[in-house]
Amino acid sequence: MMVVRTVADLRAALRDRRGGSVGFVPTMGALHEGHVSLLRAARAENGTLVLSIFVNPTQFDEQSDLAAYPRTEEADLGIADDAGVDVVFAPGGDEVYPAGFSTMVSVTGPVAETLEGAQRGRAHFDGVATVVTKLLLSVLPDAAYFGAKDAQQVAVIRRLVADLSIPVRVVVCPTSRDDDGLARSSRNARLTPEERSRALAIPRALSAVTDAAAAGVTDTEALRADAAAVLSDAGVEPEYLALVDPVSFEPVAARRGPVLVAIAARVGRTRLIDNVVLEPVREPFGTPYEGGA
Ligand code: PAF
Repeated sequence: MMVVRTVADLRAALRDRRGGSVGFVPTMGALHEGHVSLLRAARAENGTLVLSIFVNPTQFDEQSDLAAYPRTEEADLGIADDAGVDVVFAPGGDEVYPAGFSTMVSVTGPVAETLEGAQRGRAHFDGVATVVTKLLLSVLPDAAYFGAKDAQQVAVIRRLVADLSIPVRVVVCPTSRDDDGLARSSRNARLTPEERSRALAIPRALSAVTDAAAAGVTDTEALRADAAAVLSDAGVEPEYLALVDPVSFEPVAARRGPVLVAIAARVGRTRLIDNVVLEPVREPFGTPYEGGA
């Protein structure tokens, strides 16, 4: 496994690669089992596997969050090696944002301006869009792998990849969860045991919506109320609890196509996000008959 710090060295390493397609997993480090599941998926599908580790300052809305973000490069490199990574791109701040840097990539509309975009401010997705564009253009992978937990980030990235005609396949891998159901996140390490048990109301709320949807509830206000009740019983106040179109992030009133149920909440000092996608409602006619003898 090679570790490179500059775009020039990255390109040189990829020129000499062993062939086949290039799979890319961009991260901010502090690797956990969730990242490993992305690396496994990318490893299985590509001849060369590239991982980036860069804590991107432009996407943090709170300086304290940036300062507290875990930096664990030595452990990350061990995990990367075990996962079969070929090249780790771990640039310093000046390599990504050199003196005079003055270009930002900004996705507009509800996909970037609602939910996370509204809570964290416009700058958050501008920071994500800019660094992901830079990373994609530096690595030029065939496929880039992202986790479904960051559903809005995925939608923003899909938008910019389409709009800027970046020749990469965006692969979305299922949210990786701990045994208790909590979505894996580098931030979970900050939860006290009491906070962690309260945080479990988030996956419980999502399960309640999934169950209600499976039982035939189509009114999104009713589904929202089910999830809100679970959060409220646990004393978790959501920053948002929204049912939206998973591509445009426009609100949806009644389920027909797929619906993304997205939750953000602070538990103690830790901000957590999670989501689930409700499958489209099956039409009563024209679907295969599933019952009967
Ligand atoms: O999801 C992340 O870890 C980051 O937002 C990303 C995509 C690596 C950009 O900094």
